[in-house]
Parts: sequence; C-alpha cells; structure tokens
Amino acid sequence: MGQKKLKHFVHLLLGMSFGDEGKGKVVIDLLQGVLGTKYRACVRYNGGANAGHTIFMDGKKYVTHQIPSGILVPGVANLIAHGVKVNPTKLLSEMEDLKKLGVKINNDNLFVDPAAHVVLPTHVMMDILSEDRASTVGQEIGSTKQGMKQVAVSKVGRESVRLHDVLMGNGKLEKLVSDHIDFIQRNYRPLLQEEFDRIEKDLAALKDSVKILQHIATFVDSMIFIREMLEEGPILGEGAQGFGLDMDHGTYPFVTSSNSGSGAFIEGTGVPFQWLDLEHVFGVAKFWYETRVGQGPFPTDISPGVKGWYTKEEHPLAYAIQNAGEHEEGSEKGATTQRPRQVGYFDLPFLQYAVERSGVTHLILTKADRPREEDCKKLLVCTGYRSDGSLVGPDENLMLMFDSVEPEYVEVAFVPAARDVLFDDQPEPVRRHMRLIKRRLGEGVEVPFMSVGPKPGQIVYVDRAPSVGGTLMKNGAEDRIIVPSSEG
Ligand code: IMP
Repeated sequence: MGQKKLKHFVHLLLGMSFGDEGKGKVVIDLLQGVLGTKYRACVRYNGGANAGHTIFMDGKKYVTHQIPSGILVPGVANLIAHGVKVNPTKLLSEMEDLKKLGVKINNDNLFVDPAAHVVLPTHVMMDILSEDRASTVGQEIGSTKQGMKQVAVSKVGRESVRLHDVLMGNGKLEKLVSDHIDFIQRNYRPLLQEEFDRIEKDLAALKDSVKILQHIATFVDSMIFIREMLEEGPILGEGAQGFGLDMDHGTYPFVTSSNSGSGAFIEGTGVPFQWLDLEHVFGVAKFWYETRVGQGPFPTDISPGVKGWYTKEEHPLAYAIQNAGEHEEGSEKGATTQRPRQVGYFDLPFLQYAVERSGVTHLILTKADRPREEDCKKLLVCTGYRSDGSLVGPDENLMLMFDSVEPEYVEVAFVPAARDVLFDDQPEPVRRHMRLIKRRLGEGVEVPFMSVGPKPGQIVYVDRAPSVGGTLMKNGAEDRIIVPSSEG
C-alpha cells in the first residue's frame, strides 16, 4: 500500500529565537491570506499553557495560550493536537476570556485530541517547588511555572494521564496525584491541610473542565482530523516557543521540556512526514533585536547582568526596547508570566543556525517598526562569535558554547520601518539591514514580508508580489501590494 495522495499539505510556522517572536500575529496574517493561501485549519502541536500569543485586532487585545490563534479567524478549524500538554481548567478559562471578547468557539471550530497529556495541579505545584528550591542556589531555569517539566517527566516515565483517562475515570489520575503527594512530602515538605483541600478542589475542577470541554469542542484523532482537512485546503502548524528553547537543539538545560523545532509537528500530531510541505516552513524572528525571558545564556544581551525592568536613566536603549510597543508600556514582557524580557542585539549567527537546522524556507521578520527612532539612532548587530579566541564556524554547535562565546558586532544606522510604504521606499537603514540578513541566509530563504505593526495586515511585502488582498501599487518593475492597516 502506497502513501495516500494528498491534495494539500501542512505548512509549518516556527519561532527562530527564544519564543515571543510575534508568531501569533503572523499566524493571523497568514490565515487571513496575505500570501494568497487559503488555510483550512490551524494546529497547535507542542508546548502548552507556557506559550502565549498576543494579537491586537478590531480594537481588542486577545491572548491565546493553548488554543490555536486561528480561533480568531472565521472559517478556520483549530486543533489542539496530542503533542500539546493540556491544562483543562486553564483551557476553559482561556475560552471564557476569548468568548467575552466576542470570539465564537464551538465544536465546529475547536477540535481536541483526547490523547493529549494532562497537566495536573500537582505538576504545577512541583514546578513551583522545584524552581523555588533551585533559585536558592541560583540554578532555576526561570520556568513559566505551568508544570511543563513535570508533565514531561510523567510522560517519559510512562505514568502520565491523558484526557482520555480523565474521561474514562480509570483511576490513573488519582493514582498519579497520590504518588505526587508522596513525592512532594518526601522530597520537599509536609503539605498543609489547606494544600490537600486545594489539590482536591483543583482535581474536581479539572474533571469538570474535561467534561465541559467535550461538549464545547469536538474530540478527534489528530492524524485523522488533519487528513480530512488536507482534502479541503492547506493547514498551518502553529509552533510554540522558539528554536533556542527546543529541548534537544536549544540552550539545554535552559530550555522548555518539549521540542520546538520542525520535528515536533510529526511527533505532536502523528502524521507521516510526507504530509509536510517542505517548501513552506515559515520561521519568525524580530527584525532589529532579540529578547529572552527566563534564565539561560544570552550573549547579545544589551545590559548584561541586569534582570527585570530597565530604567531609562541607566539603560536607555534596553529601556526603549522593553517599552517599544505602541499599545502599552513594558510591552516586551512574557504573555504568560508578565515577566520583563531581557533584550539583546540582533544575532545573525544564531538566526542562521536556527534557520538552517529548522529547514526554514520563508523568514518573516517582525516588529520592524520598533523601537521608535527618537529612542535610538544606532544599533549593534552580532555578525559572528569567538570561542577561546577563534571564530565559531557555521558548522559548529553554537548552542553548546552559547554560554561562553564572545559576540562580534557591527554598528548599523537605525530607522524604524514605516507602515504603508513599499519595501523599496523604506528608509535606507531598513533596506540595508534586510540585505545583511538575506546575504547571511543565502538564496534558499525567501523573506515574503515583514511585520510593521501589531494588527493583522500591518505588513510590508519584501520578496513577494502576491495577487491577493490590499491595494495593488505599482513600484518600479514589479507590482507590489500593501495590505492596508486594519482599523481598530
Ligand atoms: P517552561 O516551559 O515553563 O518549563 O520554561 C522553560 C523556559 O522556557 C523558561 O526560560 C521560560 O521562560 C521559557 N519559555 C517557555 N515558554 C515560553 C514562551 O512561550 N515564550 C518565551 N519563553 C518561554
């Protein structure tokens, strides 16, 4: 029996940095068809409630954690595949928050795989206890405290509970919680009565949430769902986190407890690799700078050694970037934890490394309109690394030495990219920086567009002249389109 011939394929979208690259907004851009592709479905397949995608649309701020961002786009079916570690209670409250904002969520547009592993209240408790203990000796990972490590430990330890088990009421849930309580009491401290009561209450809420979820969403097998959807149109895989946080390929041990590289889609959905469109792997990175939240090496850190919110007086550039958003002060903060992100200079070698190892064919650069010009005239760009005095080559394992490398920089003039201006008419520093990036990545990587604002549609085409949407504008030899900024 040969492989079934498919009409359409899966496109992947992956973070190229440490998460927080602006993937959620780009997902909406793509689902709204800025590249002329009409996607049938959007699939979350890795991570869990540690992820946070913020999208500004129609004058409202939406934050998705476990639900695919495609839920905001009418006509798109959304799957939480079995690769997502599901926290059912948080999932329900996320749904409630979205519904309050007018988002329609029902069993026609939300699908959940019951084989997904469940984050238990005791997983979260152990994450907090373990991070707190590690922090007393300066060894915390800086996790989002969503229980991600612990649920991964349960999974590889072959004792984890899946949504299916909760529905079956087969006792696995109670057994694991009781084992966790023993573990906590032996390894950390005796639990207080109020903590026992809280666990019991949270477990009851978890079971109720799974039952409610079964009514709101349709429970499906990820592979079968994807096969059916691919009959009707391409699918977008919405990756969570970023390359540097990938458990195998990132800055281990300062990573999340799952994979965020390209392989995660296959494992997280169970589809054969032939279903991936290898010519449509989208990578997302910020255009002018990097950010990182949590612990771990960050060699291009603008203000090394300083954590938290920077002050304008002492760290003017880092301050300007942390507050670069147009909607709120402190916009560079974790969408899940609200923690301030450290900011770093743009990192070409890291980008090249992540793009090559992820098989990225299309790079989308975000926040090109930030920071503001009045805050910054020049920026540094990391062009290479030295380790023990020697230049690190592109074929060396950069992540293994990331905690000891010395960055080499060039200074570049800075002007933020302008909205509603064709790429060829963008300020020279924008075009020059883009040339620098493209030269480094080589011919095989297209930059279809860059993002110049938080609202979907706020993009400027770079290599693409698609024949859909927006206002067609003549620009030299090519027809280019600027999709008008959506109101809101
Ligand atoms: P965990 O995934 O909560 O265990 O956190 C492990 C590391 O990954 C920490 O440094 C977190 O800050 C980071 N992390 C996890 N998820 C995200 C994300 O969605 N964006 C940015 N950083 C993340």
